[in-house]
Amino acid sequence: GKSGYDHYMLKEIHEQPTAVRQCLSERVSGLERTIDVDSIADLEPPARVQFVACGTSYHAALYGTRLLRERGVTAQAFLASEYDADSVPVDEETLVVGVTQSGETADTMTALRDATSAGATTLAVTNVVGSSAARMCDHVVYVRAGPEIGVAATKTFVSQQIALALVACELTGTYDDDLVEALRALPDQLQAVLDESATRDVAEEYLESDAYFFIGRGYNAPVALEGALKMKEITYKHAEGFAAGELKHGPLALVTDRTPVFAIVTGGANPRKTVGNVKEVETRGAPVVAVTDGCVDVERYADHVLPVPESHPALTPILANVQLQLVSYWVANRLGRSIDKPRNLAKSVTVE
Ligand code: M6R
Repeated sequence: GKSGYDHYMLKEIHEQPTAVRQCLSERVSGLERTIDVDSIADLEPPARVQFVACGTSYHAALYGTRLLRERGVTAQAFLASEYDADSVPVDEETLVVGVTQSGETADTMTALRDATSAGATTLAVTNVVGSSAARMCDHVVYVRAGPEIGVAATKTFVSQQIALALVACELTGTYDDDLVEALRALPDQLQAVLDESATRDVAEEYLESDAYFFIGRGYNAPVALEGALKMKEITYKHAEGFAAGELKHGPLALVTDRTPVFAIVTGGANPRKTVGNVKEVETRGAPVVAVTDGCVDVERYADHVLPVPESHPALTPILANVQLQLVSYWVANRLGRSIDKPRNLAKSVTVE
């Protein structure tokens, strides 16, 4: 059941601290200073990594790409429906990672089959034990989020991100003290965000808006895309996410006093530059909601601040994402939407 929550989505948002604990369990040892993801422990470090995924899972893949690149691995993320093994270099040295919570998405399965034919080694990062992706790939890492009923992916997204952080460390044989310490602290920090979130008031204030924009850079860019996807999916309102620097290259023309801009501004992601982008929208009268760890002074340009605790630069985006999930949830709730089963959407998309 929904354990007293009005919707599965809200329940699953609140299950994220547990989901993260489950994903980390027995994979990270502080004592031995090891990150050990058993199923890929014997994988040779690949020459290149290609992610294939759709929707929210694609956003997790973008995040994974950055984690690997920072560790010196050539990595690219592809929308599974756009993947074409003939037009990218795929060979025996390539690891193709299918990120798919259901493990049944047709576009992703097709891409994985393509990659297999081209000789790549494949890895499924999935939530569903024994799913099609888990069975067809050479390796599988389970994200262990527990069952997700809401069509909108929430806890599976955070679990994918954590799993990809572990995969990045395991593949490159890196043990990053700061990251491990921050991973350990993350469940309690997620809980703190859930307990203190002021998103209901923010949602209430911007219920009548024409459109919602989300901006962030670095690790926050995929979260900006995800914030917008969640918003459109469950509220049926126009929403778009951009890498913060892209705003001035076109989308800025859409910004008015009726388009709130959610800016994710956290340490490690050139926050000062993002503040510059915030000023650009503030000057045009847009309401600004800053989701920030307080690393720079963005408050003075913001109408609302949704705070997140300080963490590792790769993990603050995960905390920020929770605030965005909740804003979308409360907007959809007030608009009386069918939150757990939005119109036209299905939990797993088995057509191409
Ligand atoms: O099961 P998958 O992770 O492969 O699903 C991919 C997308 O269909 C999925 O992430 C979709 O975008 C979400 N339901 C959005 O919340």
